[in-house]
Amino acid sequence: MGKFDGRRVVVTGAGSGIGYEISRLFLAEGGEVVAADRDPRSVPPGSFPVKVDISSPDEIDQLRKSAYELLGGVDILCNNAGIGSTTSILEATVEEWDRVFAVNARGTFLCMKSFLPGMLEQKFGVIVNTASVAGMIGLRDRASYSASKGAVVALTKQAAVQWAAAGIRCNCVCPGTVDSPWVERLLQQAEDPDAYRAELTARQPMGRLAEPTEVAKAVLYLASDDAAFVTGAELVIDGGILAS
Ligand SMILES: NC(=O)c1ccc[n+]([C@@H]2O[C@H](COP(=O)([O-])OP(=O)(O)OC[C@H]3O[C@@H](n4cnc5c(N)ncnc54)[C@H](O)[C@@H]3O)[C@@H](O)[C@H]2O)c1
Repeated sequence: MGKFDGRRVVVTGAGSGIGYEISRLFLAEGGEVVAADRDPRSVPPGSFPVKVDISSPDEIDQLRKSAYELLGGVDILCNNAGIGSTTSILEATVEEWDRVFAVNARGTFLCMKSFLPGMLEQKFGVIVNTASVAGMIGLRDRASYSASKGAVVALTKQAAVQWAAAGIRCNCVCPGTVDSPWVERLLQQAEDPDAYRAELTARQPMGRLAEPTEVAKAVLYLASDDAAFVTGAELVIDGGILAS
């Protein structure tokens, strides 16, 4: 018997990295998964791929309709899709700020807004958002990204309080640097990829990057009945960054 037998799950950003692992682990534990991504060609086998740009209200509406047709309802929503930026306030353009916020903050807001009414109607729902330690502490050259992830942390807590007594739990995970295709892209852009990897690694007291599955396991914990009394939490998975 799987821990998520009969649970109907939507995961955004399911085509790569952390979202892929979240979807894979839910499937392994008996969940039915709609794997949403702007490029859904590489979602885990056994999931239902749905193409969506989470910054678009119309596309989110279509995602909800598809998820309801495929699963008959939604119990668990993992807002994981996100994009990065590597600039300070001085270098960041208004366009970059808007682009990062449109996906990370507005996309998370839109998905919650779209799926919450069904959860409230069935008096059960779990939301797990992927934020970041960048939303909790200052990191160099992450102005738009940090602010957008700070918004995700705040929205998580706001929603948790709003619907705590209505059967809805809402939490977020705050990863440090995770060895996903995202980081590979960052390294490729760096002048000296090896030196940059060493810098990212040294920032984490455990002396290594996280594996995507280590973050996914924390998401599954928050989505499970083991976390039945947990809402509004920021679960930090950072190898010790915040403690240092
Ligand atoms: N990798 C890290 O070090 C790290 C650290 C902290 C937090 N995070 C967060 O974890 C989440 C997943 O990151 P990852 O490392 O797996 O990255 P990734 O780039 O490997 O995967 C992100 C996925 O999201 C999808 N996506 C991006 N924009 C989208 C949009 N507008 N609509 C739909 N799908 C979209 C991409 O197609 C991709 O499949 C992100 O929210 C990221 O901010 C990552």
